[in-house]
Amino acid sequence: MKPIKSSFEKPIEIGSLKLKNRVVMAPMTRCFSPDGVPSSEVSAYYRRRAENEVGLIITEGVLIEHEAAGAEHDVPHFYGEKALNEWSRIVDEVHKVGGKIAPQIWHTGMAREPEKFPASNIQPVGPSGINFKGEKSSQSLTVNEIHDLIRKYAEAAANAKKIGFDAVEIHGAHGYLIDQFFSEFFNKRTDEYGGDLSQRTRFAVEVIKAVREAVGLDFPIIFRFSQWKLNDYEYKLVKNPKELKSFLTPLVDAGVDIFHASTRRFWEPEFEGSDLNLAGWTKKLTGKTVISVGSVGLTAQLTKNIDESKFNDTTAHLDELGDKLDEGQFDLIAIGRALISDPAWVTKIQTGKVEEINVFDKADLKTLY
Ligand SMILES: Cc1cc2nc3c(=O)[nH]c(=O)nc-3n(C[C@H](O)[C@H](O)[C@H](O)COP(=O)(O)O)c2cc1C
Repeated sequence: MKPIKSSFEKPIEIGSLKLKNRVVMAPMTRCFSPDGVPSSEVSAYYRRRAENEVGLIITEGVLIEHEAAGAEHDVPHFYGEKALNEWSRIVDEVHKVGGKIAPQIWHTGMAREPEKFPASNIQPVGPSGINFKGEKSSQSLTVNEIHDLIRKYAEAAANAKKIGFDAVEIHGAHGYLIDQFFSEFFNKRTDEYGGDLSQRTRFAVEVIKAVREAVGLDFPIIFRFSQWKLNDYEYKLVKNPKELKSFLTPLVDAGVDIFHASTRRFWEPEFEGSDLNLAGWTKKLTGKTVISVGSVGLTAQLTKNIDESKFNDTTAHLDELGDKLDEGQFDLIAIGRALISDPAWVTKIQTGKVEEINVFDKADLKTLY
């Protein structure tokens, strides 16, 4: 294996964000925050990754202040004194050991299943009230409600900056609220928030602009997007580079600094005729800093389930990853499950202690180590 060390270890500066290397921890929901307040293990969990050469941590999705923002219990809030105090402590812990950290601000939209919250009568919200089965299950958001949600994203971003986070990531991927506006499956609106693909970017554009206004010019905004959706891993929002460009251009103009192109296997070409993946195309078309992601440190491909557990050779595809980073196809690589199972995955790869790696097993999702 070619030493991945050199490819990982180049520092990078994106505006005010100075990263010591190219490794990012992917945002991963862990549900260890009873009543929305991160438990004390959460700070130790992030600190452990920062201590072990993860250059930038993107936190699990954190909920903006809206009654229907969440789809699971024990997901952290990003509002209210208690939760924000705890986030402030987490930021300090990560900074103490030289790490950088950004919260991923999130609203799950129509992914909320009211049956999971029998004690409340809060229905999911989304562009047209269409659920993951394609049925109309609640009211469409009104324009006033959309404006309120945009303000809540901006407030969350302002709090991220105030608390001392190093950047903010807006979750625009995987079929959650912002992505529901992008997708014609969920978005049937005939007002200014619906229409063709570029019109369907309007909600995201207004969120990004409001976030930019709230955090100022120096604070990096990361925007995560994907083709795949929770209910359809094969979904294609854009079918060719031209469509990708018309999708991304309004987001760039609104103020995104870093794109996080979420794919399930980083080595897969996105369009025919080029080996560039979605991140590679995003960089080529926008010139922005781009994060790639997908099955680093895992061999068996993610098949049906995101928590597939039969992986064993953690070094597969690492040569290819090094080449893509060295060629500048993308700038940063996010690592998800490999870092759940082994907080020291990066240092073990860098120092050749591959046989000591604790390989991903879905049982590891039950604990927070
Ligand atoms: C347990 C778990 C929770 C996840 N939660 C989130 C999340 O909150 N936000 C998000 O954007 N992606 C989430 N993802 C997707 C990951 O960020 C990542 O894109 C995906 O796991 C692929 O990377 P990997 O192959 O390195 O694990 C989650 C994935 C897992 C396994």
